[in-house]
Amino acid sequence: MNSLRQLGFCLLLASLELAHVEVRAETGEQIAKSGNAAGAPACITCHGSAGQGQGAAGFPRLAGMNADYLAAQLQGFQDGTRTNPIMGAVAKLISSADAKALTAYYAAISVIDATGDAAASNSSVAAGEALAKNGAWKNGVPACAQCHGATGHGVGAAFPQIAGQSVVYLSNQLQAWKTGTRKNDPMGLMHGIALKLSVADVNAVAAYYARLPSSSASNGTTKP
Ligand code: HEC
Ligand code: HEC
Repeated sequence: MNSLRQLGFCLLLASLELAHVEVRAETGEQIAKSGNAAGAPACITCHGSAGQGQGAAGFPRLAGMNADYLAAQLQGFQDGTRTNPIMGAVAKLISSADAKALTAYYAAISVIDATGDAAASNSSVAAGEALAKNGAWKNGVPACAQCHGATGHGVGAAFPQIAGQSVVYLSNQLQAWKTGTRKNDPMGLMHGIALKLSVADVNAVAAYYARLPSSSASNGTTKP
């Protein structure tokens, strides 16, 4: 009887401990640096110690991006409208409260590497700039700047900053829209555009945006 009582007491303590763990809110910074209780890995292992990303690996910069845009992307990875074997698995371990904390944390970080992707090749940058600023009307491609802003710093929550992301990440995204592994864009806007871009167009426009400095001052809220 006594030991049963003890067991009961232990169980009670254990459930209190569990309840304690559940109510303890982890801050965005804590999760980014150490992961969360559900087993999500630390974001910094892939996205860099200050959210600057790892260009060559295709891990995007998160610092200074619009919080609502980032949250919509996590949602996309969770509901399968954006698929990626690595980030999809991570996103499924993030609760909506975690997503809120994490995206607010990253949006508020200042971009430390504002010089862009130095690895972008020079050769196609001019062609990329022309496409970005003027589009290619004969192929039905609008100017990227119309939606992403004159300097690629994005507009509001809907049109993300693309300046300063790496060549690898930018081309991966355009490719993902072509093949349909990413289909979370409003009204299929990017899918329609990506389908009209040739391989040379993708390489050129990615090289151009990768070399533009990114901005955290805008946080995607500047006017085009
Ligand atoms: C093991 C590596 C890895 C870890 C850890 C990781 N990510 Fe990612 N993340 C990626 C990759 C790869 C992509 C790009 C996927 C693609 O190409 O579609 C990505 C993309 C994203 C995006 C989309 C960005 C955009 O501009 O659309 C967000 C948001 C994001 N990650 C948030 C997080 C958060 C928050 C954490 C920590 C809880 C995290 N990631 C941990 C690899 C990782
Ligand atoms: C009509 C408006 C519009 C135009 C023009 C446009 N985009 Fe986009 N773009 C969007 C929207 C909206 C999103 C966000 C999609 C989402 O919510 O998933 C986006 C997202 C992107 C992303 C993903 C960024 C990230 O963080 O993952 C890339 C890369 C991109 N666009 C490149 C381009 C390029 C290159 C061009 C020009 C060839 C272009 N866009 C023209 C509307 C546009």
